[in-house]
Amino acid sequence: MSYTTILTSLEAGIFTITINRPDKLNALNKDVISNLDKVLDEIESSPEIKGVILTGSGQKGFVAGADITEFLGLSGDEGKALAKKGLDVFFKIENCSKPIIAAVNGFALGGGCELAMACHFRIASENAKFGQPEVNLGLIPGYGGTQRLVQLIGKGRAIELLLTGNMIDAQTALSYGLVNHVVPQEELLNKAKSILEIILTKAPLAISHCITAANAAYSADGYKKESEGFGACFETEDMKEGTSAFLEKRKPLFTGK
Ligand code: COA
Repeated sequence: MSYTTILTSLEAGIFTITINRPDKLNALNKDVISNLDKVLDEIESSPEIKGVILTGSGQKGFVAGADITEFLGLSGDEGKALAKKGLDVFFKIENCSKPIIAAVNGFALGGGCELAMACHFRIASENAKFGQPEVNLGLIPGYGGTQRLVQLIGKGRAIELLLTGNMIDAQTALSYGLVNHVVPQEELLNKAKSILEIILTKAPLAISHCITAANAAYSADGYKKESEGFGACFETEDMKEGTSAFLEKRKPLFTGK
């Protein structure tokens, strides 16, 4: 199958997906979300695909977030609908019956951090940076970030990152348990492959049941709250100001409205 915004390759059962908008640091626009949705169907239906690596194109960005250029002018309901599309695709990743490892090769911010967190686990290159900077735009995460960050690193650390919008480096992400391994960039894909090779020696159905059972450890109720909050942000002046300021390459002036 061919896709417009992602590259795919299959070698010895390992399917590699590379999000391919390097000039925009692989930001998730509608096409990327739609391509990811379709490729997940391909992964589930193809018997040749046994495990998956998800990474970003270039050496700077894994994914620098949802594409901010698509935010301006959306109503609250449209914001909520946008969140739902992304959330549904990220649930598909999380619930995929085959293991999906995020190989985080640079910035994983906003929707990029959320995408990495939807994968079954994460490996980072030494230059990777993680964060949920949505508050800088007058927004909150909309693709599951408030929930999965709390699940993965604990509420205190998660809330600090969510409220400050600060980024953490790969070593801090390792110490928080957000990533399992940190390796030099040139070793990133091989590290992911070597772990998948071990997994692929196990019983595929057992692997699939492990994923399902581990996912069931968390309730999904919080996602509804997050979507409501995300949609509500689209009704605020500050969200319009935050997104405009980013696109105009200036500092935002927030008013609390
Ligand atoms: N949406 C749309 N475009 C984005 C983007 C995003 N989330 N992140 C980066 N880009 C674009 C930039 O606008 C720029 O495009 P241009 O060359 O046409 O101007 C290009 O990607 C390169 O980014 P740039 O900002 O020039 O790189 P940098 O090294 O100076 O900064 C970041 C890197 C990641 C710190 C910065 O791009 C950034 O803060 N991105 C937004 C992160 C964010 O808020 N994500 C959450 C969105 S909900």
